[in-house]
Amino acid sequence: MKNEIAGVILAGGLGRRLDPLTRVANKHLLPVYHQPMIYYPLEKMIRAGLNEILIVCGESDQNDFEKLLRNERRFHNAGIEFTTQIGEDGIAAALALAEDFATDRRICVVLGDNLFEDDLDLELENYKSQTDGARILLKEVPDPERFGVPVFDGEKLIGIEEKPSNPKSPYAVVGIYFYDNRVFDIIRTLKPSARGEYEITDVSNAYLASGDLTYGHLNGWWSDCGTFESLFEASRLVREQKTRNMEIIRD
Ligand code: G1P
Repeated sequence: MKNEIAGVILAGGLGRRLDPLTRVANKHLLPVYHQPMIYYPLEKMIRAGLNEILIVCGESDQNDFEKLLRNERRFHNAGIEFTTQIGEDGIAAALALAEDFATDRRICVVLGDNLFEDDLDLELENYKSQTDGARILLKEVPDPERFGVPVFDGEKLIGIEEKPSNPKSPYAVVGIYFYDNRVFDIIRTLKPSARGEYEITDVSNAYLASGDLTYGHLNGWWSDCGTFESLFEASRLVREQKTRNMEIIRD
């Protein structure tokens, strides 16, 4: 069981920054170019062999997700389960709801509004080769103040700051996290941040404090979809990649 990894996609939240798009639809059902947003993390996980996946979503959204995924044959071989959250008290609080699903497995967590080019295989292997602890992934971005930002002393990662006004590095911690089963005990020790949320950054910092956090870098493009600009950019990136792939097939 120890080397088994279960997938968790966090697809809750109110998507306030995308109002009015999110007034009646869950953010993760919005289109990113030619597909609903939730397809992208699902495809990445399934392609990497993560076939048991939990989607954490809002209570009123589960029916919509089920209706959508039921009609999509490529997802039929994956065991997709749902659990629902009431309200919005942060990513770590949403992750806490995955405890029963995870049982004693380690987990790969993807934030449902994070789109990325790289396959998950390589990083899954990297994580499997570490006996326990956690692993995060970084990407250089022009606007790190919007994200969790790693702080380095030379090559050594010494902390992560959530949305700092003066970022100490040009990197974002992307929404792909590998955690061992201790994560649920760690979440129980957390206190809400200044914005009143249980922060995923505090979870990773707890692993760092016990010397159990490694990190890697994403090579390909990455975008979140939390704002109009980033949602638009994600569509553009997907379109560009799709066009590139078609050209490769044609050549
Ligand atoms: C969340 C995390 C942040 C991370 C980001 C990646 O931020 O809190 O650390 O860098 O996801 O998308 P949010 O987009 O929920 O504000």
